[in-house]
Amino acid sequence: MGLDFESWRKLAREGLSAETPPARMAWETSTELQLFSDPTVLPATDREFRCPKEFLSLAKAVAPHRSGEQWPLLYAVLWDLTHGRPRLLEDVADPRVHRLGILDKQVRRDLHKMTAFVRFERVGDDPEVFAAWYEPDHLILDLAETFFRKRFGSMNAAILTPDGGLAWTPFESRRVPGPLSKPSATKDPFQDLWRSYFASTFNPARLKVRMMKREMPVRFWKNLPEAELIPSMIAGSSRRAREMIEKSREEARPTTVRSRPKTLDELRAGVRVCTACDLCESKRPGVPSRGPARARVAIVGEQPGDQEDREGLPFVGPAGRLLMELLAEIAAPTENVYFTNAVKHFRFVEQGKMRVHRRPEATHVRACRMWLEDELAMVAPEVVVCLGGTAIHSVLGYALPVGEARSRQDLRDERGARVIATYHPAALLRAMPEQARAWRADTLADLRKAFEKREQSKREVPLGINL
Ligand code: URA
Repeated sequence: MGLDFESWRKLAREGLSAETPPARMAWETSTELQLFSDPTVLPATDREFRCPKEFLSLAKAVAPHRSGEQWPLLYAVLWDLTHGRPRLLEDVADPRVHRLGILDKQVRRDLHKMTAFVRFERVGDDPEVFAAWYEPDHLILDLAETFFRKRFGSMNAAILTPDGGLAWTPFESRRVPGPLSKPSATKDPFQDLWRSYFASTFNPARLKVRMMKREMPVRFWKNLPEAELIPSMIAGSSRRAREMIEKSREEARPTTVRSRPKTLDELRAGVRVCTACDLCESKRPGVPSRGPARARVAIVGEQPGDQEDREGLPFVGPAGRLLMELLAEIAAPTENVYFTNAVKHFRFVEQGKMRVHRRPEATHVRACRMWLEDELAMVAPEVVVCLGGTAIHSVLGYALPVGEARSRQDLRDERGARVIATYHPAALLRAMPEQARAWRADTLADLRKAFEKREQSKREVPLGINL
């Protein structure tokens, strides 16, 4: 048996009690765990060691990682935390902290996959008993138990994995000791149900085979009844995608809401009185863009904030001021930049006298997209800078995490202009100082790229535009 959180914790306490530095600890992780007896290692004492709460949460979160790599890393970080570096976890540049963050993500992702890809089948002739076979990457059965019992607690069911299983009725649950091997295949009407569900939710306009494989990795396919549909769906996807794009364009332009503006002034006037989504119920005018009718660079934010809403101009509040400061730092010619937002109305909740920002929903982004599409077509920038996830979603037509979008050199908007993604300045304002410093440096680097003159835009039309 490998380590688990509690046994690691016990050994770590012993190590700290004996003042054993990380380099002198030896962790055998894959089979038997040993704290190899360095003669200086003493038995556990009652001494208390204090560490930040976040550290314990992180240690519990990475404990299920199958590699065993987490145990020495955790001890090394714990050692430093208790030896003069109590704020180490804030140092995202520390390679051990960074690596633990990655392991944490891998475990969370694995759990997410498990919650998505477990498929129950009826067991034998009993109509009331279900079972599923699943092969997780990490040792996540404990974590998964909470989710599955909450979601399917009224069933009599079992999830079996190579590491062991979990079986429950509405009244109790128990562990099935491992190792287990895959039960022989059964045919089941449930599988057809999954197939038709999957086919009906499949959106060809969003099909990116690479992304799809990342979301539903090929190694899961063998246990998924619907996976046999994938090759034929991929084959038919481009025609269906074109049809869907056309249809969604039609739908995105309800003629009852507006007629298509011919000039930027007309567009700005239209934005002020837009009623295309429920945000207009605030009775506040929409906040149009600012900047010249022709600009090489367009910067797209999320939505106006409180101050923007009061002044009717984008980027005049705290986040906007930070953006201007960053642009000044790289000597960007701001008078030639077009500033706009993915969503034109301020979405907020009232808390006392304050109007507190709420992130716009996909429906708001979709409703406003007609404005953004038209303004980008009129201004024709070569480079579109997206500040944060909402802008990325709106400009590309599909969601992409900021971190991933930042690393992509090949992103283009509908017209083929280069898309550069970066952090939203509001995120910098909210972040802890270390994080904010790191993001600020990244944002400056991204903005510099946007203003480099050698940019040549490729006019290619990407497949996905639907939200
Ligand atoms: N101000 C804006 O105009 N847009 C944002 O995204 C944030 C602040």
